Amino acid sequence: MSATRILPVAVRNAGDLATICAGEGAKSDPLWERATKAKRQWVRDRLAELGTFAWVAYNGADPIGMIQCHPDRDPMGVGVAVIDCIWVPKKSRWGRGIGSKLLAEVETTMQRQHRWFDGKTADGMAAIAFHGEAEGQRSAESFYLHHGFVHVDGDPDLMFKPFLPETVWTPTPRAVVEPTTLPDDQARVTVLLGPLSCPFQFRILSQTGTYVGEKLGMPVTEVDAVIDPEGYLAHGGHPGILVHGRPLQYDLLQRERLNEELRGL
Ligand SMILES: CC(C)(COP(=O)(O)OP(=O)(O)OC[C@H]1O[C@@H](n2cnc3c(N)ncnc32)[C@H](O)[C@@H]1OP(=O)(O)O)[C@@H](O)C(=O)NCCC(=O)NCCS
Repeated sequence: MSATRILPVAVRNAGDLATICAGEGAKSDPLWERATKAKRQWVRDRLAELGTFAWVAYNGADPIGMIQCHPDRDPMGVGVAVIDCIWVPKKSRWGRGIGSKLLAEVETTMQRQHRWFDGKTADGMAAIAFHGEAEGQRSAESFYLHHGFVHVDGDPDLMFKPFLPETVWTPTPRAVVEPTTLPDDQARVTVLLGPLSCPFQFRILSQTGTYVGEKLGMPVTEVDAVIDPEGYLAHGGHPGILVHGRPLQYDLLQRERLNEELRGL
């Protein structure tokens, strides 16, 4: 078996970061195809904005794991690399050090002088550790605890590991951006699908739109940035769902809350 290599994501391998999340059978699923296309666009946009922000682990030419992050700067100037996602999809690869190698790559990079932090080193690393693991797979939360991260007050999914123990970081609150409503949205469910960091999220948005349309007996219109970029931008250029022109808060990942929200419309 060849050794695992960790490579930064650049334009030439952007497709690997976009497709690694898709499981077997995804190739024949048109929704997955659209989701990975949207992620590919997101990767290109991020590369243009941030430079290197993600790494892929390879076995030979096969992508077998990924990690992606972005910078955060608090009002006191504390600079932190926030890991949005880590993912080693295949069961046959779990527990072989791939996740740890990916994390070490980010740590080493951020402990060097870095353009994200005005040419200085980062003050620490943070991680968004929501529960996205498959059955039997190590959760992001337990993985980060194992690697010295601790929970941050006020956000159950956010964890932090300072590079110096006395460092205090005040995270920038995660922005909630609401889409712009247009007159046509009043009589329908509008699903806004654009460049997204996570193909699962793209699929869930689309599936939620269909579910809501059926549940409320309303027509569903998908505005996909790849097919209708003007329509997507006219809605503010952010993903989301509008019902009668109002933004929906929940999706099918929280079905009970979604049903409750729909009952209240
Ligand atoms: C967390 C994750 C990245 C770990 O990847 P990995 O390549 O298996 O990790 P490593 O092999 O480096 O394992 C690190 C440690 O965890 C242990 N471990 C890994 N998988 C395990 C499992 N399923 N059960 C128990 N221990 C496990 C390893 O033995 C290792 O322990 P050690 O450091 O004492 O030797 C991977 O399991 C994953 O993708 N989980 C899902 C994460 C997720 O939900 N992402 C989306 C939200 S961010």
